Amino acid sequence: MKLIFLGAPGAGKGTHATRVKQDYNLPHISTGDIFRANIKGGTPLGLLAKSYIDKGALVPDSVVIDIVKDRLQQADCAGGYILDGFPRTVAQADALSTFADIDAVINLILDGEVIVERVAGRRVCDCGETYNVATLGGKTTCAKCGKPLYQREDDNPQTVRNRLAVYDRETSPLLAYYRQKGLLRDVDSNGLTIDEVYAKIKAILDTL
Ligand code: AP5
Ligand code: MG
Repeated sequence: MKLIFLGAPGAGKGTHATRVKQDYNLPHISTGDIFRANIKGGTPLGLLAKSYIDKGALVPDSVVIDIVKDRLQQADCAGGYILDGFPRTVAQADALSTFADIDAVINLILDGEVIVERVAGRRVCDCGETYNVATLGGKTTCAKCGKPLYQREDDNPQTVRNRLAVYDRETSPLLAYYRQKGLLRDVDSNGLTIDEVYAKIKAILDTL
């Protein structure tokens, strides 16, 4: 299965892609995670990406496209993969169509005010786990690996506002783009728990 997870910042792409990765044994390719790992490692790519991510802007298409193209050529992607946070522009989607045959685009739908709340409450671990203060019950370490949880630098209110505006302007045109190709699968996640949203996603994947 070759999947794309689409949705606004905080819509739950990473949360659910992580579950699909485990249950369907597919590599989870998050461009945001790739950039954050490079920022942490102090690589030239990390330095470049940071200048955009800190503002909530998009890293240039040419940079992101080359990274994803290389990643999809690795052996573990031969049987399928989950793209999380890519493509994010029509130019990225056009490029992707030249080197990948996507089976479905899972579109996570969530109201704006809930998004802001979820992003503000998100806590992450270096191991890739994501939590929310709403359900952490005061815990400050990762349940999986025990490391301390922290807030992403781009989860501050000003940057989140910019990320949402960039989503509306640059990424939301992909909804019509993939709907027209017959690939878009809407998952309305308003008012649903993670388990309930995941059940909807599984129901879609099990038809593919
Ligand atoms: P990226 O890391 O992709 O960030 P994003 O798209 O803004 O999405 P998020 O990771 O913030 O949200 P998510 O949908 O994964 O939500 P999550 O599952 O964590 O990109 C970061 C930056 O990198 C971009 O701004 C850009 O600069 C750059 N970049 C990345 N890709 C790029 C590209 N292709 N082109 C150019 N630039 C690129 O969930 C959020 C919270 O909600 C969590 O706390 C979670 O626990 C909670 N939650 C989830 N579901 C539920 C539920 N059902 N009920 C209650 N809580 C829930
Ligand atoms: Mg994410």
